[in-house]
Amino acid sequence: MNFKEELQNRQNYINEVLDRFLPEVSGKQKTVLDAMRYSVTIGGKRLRPIMMLEVFRCFAGQENESKIAPFLAAMEMLHTYSLVHDDLPDMDNDMYRRGQLTTHAKYGSAMAILAGDALLNFAFETAGQAFTEESAPEGMEWNLRVAKALQVFGRKAGIFGMIGGQVVDVEKTGQPLSEEEIGFIYKLKTCALLEASMMIGAILGGAGADMLAEVEQMAYHIGMAFQIQDDILDMTGDEAKLGKPLHSDEKNQKTTYVTLHGLEAAKAKVKELSEKAVETAKKIHGTEFLQELIDYLIVREN
Ligand code: IPE
Ligand code: IPE
Ligand code: MG
Ligand code: MG
Ligand code: MG
Repeated sequence: MNFKEELQNRQNYINEVLDRFLPEVSGKQKTVLDAMRYSVTIGGKRLRPIMMLEVFRCFAGQENESKIAPFLAAMEMLHTYSLVHDDLPDMDNDMYRRGQLTTHAKYGSAMAILAGDALLNFAFETAGQAFTEESAPEGMEWNLRVAKALQVFGRKAGIFGMIGGQVVDVEKTGQPLSEEEIGFIYKLKTCALLEASMMIGAILGGAGADMLAEVEQMAYHIGMAFQIQDDILDMTGDEAKLGKPLHSDEKNQKTTYVTLHGLEAAKAKVKELSEKAVETAKKIHGTEFLQELIDYLIVREN
């Protein structure tokens, strides 16, 4: 099988899992349930759950992978909430996402805020389904892993993770940034959820502390490369392929790695960071697909 087919298979699997865990659209609050489902299912590369699953497989093998399905769904719900809020008029004010109208453009701001909030809460409720009632020692061990994974999930999504990065991103809008400030913003707003994804895969797979630190470092390098590539695509991409508007950063007067260092230096940095990530991946058994995925992200068009 070639890489593109393998990626498509994984995306299909994540889509099935999401469909299974997303709440049914019915009842008096069905507008917000519809908005939740809309924002999650209109598209998206599913990279975070795919990376979570790949790392889990490295440590646990393929037998028990149905046990991590709640976390796969939860991660994509949480990531989608971050996009729904990122697009709001008071944030980046963007009208297109994943090739369709953004949630606020379709349902209005109030409903988009609520749909984002609802996805965030429902993500934790969903992840909680990973706990087992099995009281044998293996069940106890599994539940300890789930508890640890939940802690990472909360921290990396919150004020010491994604939200913290978005806060500084918004606050520094229109201002020049130092290399150090850009690094802080990217580490939090983007790396944090990739770190959470891969760390949760490792924790649930039973990785020890040393390996967990390697995984976190690898995800950090992937995240930095990913955000710089996102900034490059914002300037030079093809809107139809990207599925979101070009020049959002310019419109919002964002200082990015590209405005700071220029396009060529940014491209070189993406390559350098990706190579670092692949080096770390090579230390972990079973990461062949992951290594290809990291290389693919350098040349991605969406
Ligand atoms: C977009 O993430 C937000 C960034 C961190 C740059 P993705 O590029 O993974 O978005 P989807 O999930 O594929 O839509
Ligand atoms: C957003 O960065 C990262 C998030 C936490 C959502 P961007 O604002 O550059 O993401 P896009 O380009 O809108 O996807
Ligand atoms: Mg933004
Ligand atoms: Mg944005
Ligand atoms: Mg962007």
